[in-house]
Amino acid sequence: MYECIEVVGKGSLNGSVVAGGAKNAALPLLMATLLTDEPVTLSNVPALEDITHVRQLLEALGSQMDLHRIGLDGGAVTIQTKELSRHSASHSLIKALRASFWILGPLLARCGEAQVSLPGGDIIGARPVDIHLEALTAMGANIELKHGVVFATAPHGLRPAHITFRYPSVGATHQILMVAARISGTTIIEGAAREPEIESMAELLSRMGAHIEGAGTSRILISGTPHLSGTSLDLIGDRIEAGTYLCAGVATRGKVTVNGVRPAHVGKLLDIFSEMGCEIERGNNSITVDAQHDLRGVSVTTGPFPELATDLQAPLLAALCTVEGESSVEETVYEARFRHVAELWRLGAHIELSDRCARIIGTPRLSGAAVEGHDIRAAASLVVAGLAAEGSTFISEPHHLRRGYERLEEKIAALGGTICNRIADAEDLMFSGC
Ligand code: EPZ
Repeated sequence: MYECIEVVGKGSLNGSVVAGGAKNAALPLLMATLLTDEPVTLSNVPALEDITHVRQLLEALGSQMDLHRIGLDGGAVTIQTKELSRHSASHSLIKALRASFWILGPLLARCGEAQVSLPGGDIIGARPVDIHLEALTAMGANIELKHGVVFATAPHGLRPAHITFRYPSVGATHQILMVAARISGTTIIEGAAREPEIESMAELLSRMGAHIEGAGTSRILISGTPHLSGTSLDLIGDRIEAGTYLCAGVATRGKVTVNGVRPAHVGKLLDIFSEMGCEIERGNNSITVDAQHDLRGVSVTTGPFPELATDLQAPLLAALCTVEGESSVEETVYEARFRHVAELWRLGAHIELSDRCARIIGTPRLSGAAVEGHDIRAAASLVVAGLAAEGSTFISEPHHLRRGYERLEEKIAALGGTICNRIADAEDLMFSGC
């Protein structure tokens, strides 16, 4: 017996949903709360497995947490770490969620030492952390790698530095922002990541007492202080969740509005939808995409913000599988982020893969099948394709979806679609029904 999600293909999605708080803002902001011994309240925090994981990591380090309606609209969490009970994070904690590695900086900044397991790679690529470690070394950290663990110390304290990233790593930018915010003096990051979640981190650290200029650009100046205070912050909407629902609307030729997200945070995807022939309406904090038109294929390339987000590559590729004509998708951020393609082939998609590029010949008739969701965004792409397919699609490994998409069944139902949890009998694929 195994658990799966059934996605019923039954026509176009129409209506509106509200994006939850951004998972990829919440994760680093939760870690930044370690930088002060005063309470920090984050609101609009989604109820996702990845968030739960970081909360457990912080509690293991000595944080006290009050949850207020987590998972409901406006759910919030107040975290206070009066003192750290330890300064190490084990392999099991890091392996389950790669971003947990970002705890290294805050621990080192607060305790002067930290032991954190190397995160290793995962199925989308090697995902090294050399940029993180080189930057911390430039700030005075002694870094030693032993038995798969990073042993970091700062015997002479950490110091501000002028750092240049060889690649605009999101995690490394978060890590150095957090460390620089807690030391006196001015650190400069050249080649910083420009994602909206970086601006959220800068906003939180500024409210805690640091002075930060240039967040959202590739050059950030951080003037820190050892005495950061408590504060509160409302999370931005999840641009990847929002983009995924918009891809589902396009794949099914419907008209979908996502509220609670800023159009500029999904910018490039909207330009692509326009190029395909969709009508776009941009509100202050909402986006409507009307795909009730004959659409045309496009050529797209992922890249660091403000380019097309790599996390939207799989959902967009699934939508392009339904668009008559030829499209291409080039993935420049990760070396192995096409695991969803083999699953889309099972739905009848025509995709040719070569190295980092997928060439798609659109087909009007995908057909439902049993498929495997290999990671959060690959699984999301199979939901998008399943909603546009004839018949039902059964996606195994549904826990990946719960890591990044809060109340997925409810939100898809609000758009007129049907997905539900199933328990399948591996032998004869009998399903309990929903
Ligand atoms: C963040 O991961 C996101 N995760 C990822 O979203 C997202 O795909 C990625 O940024 C890119 O936008 C969170 O925010 C929690 P990177 P991160 O460091 O920080 C290479 C999702 O689905 N690199 O910007 O780990 C790396 O190998 C997740 O929500 C180095 O070479 O990404 C990759 O090829 C998946 N050395 C590229 O840079 C380093 O030291 C981008 O990595 C660091 C990164």
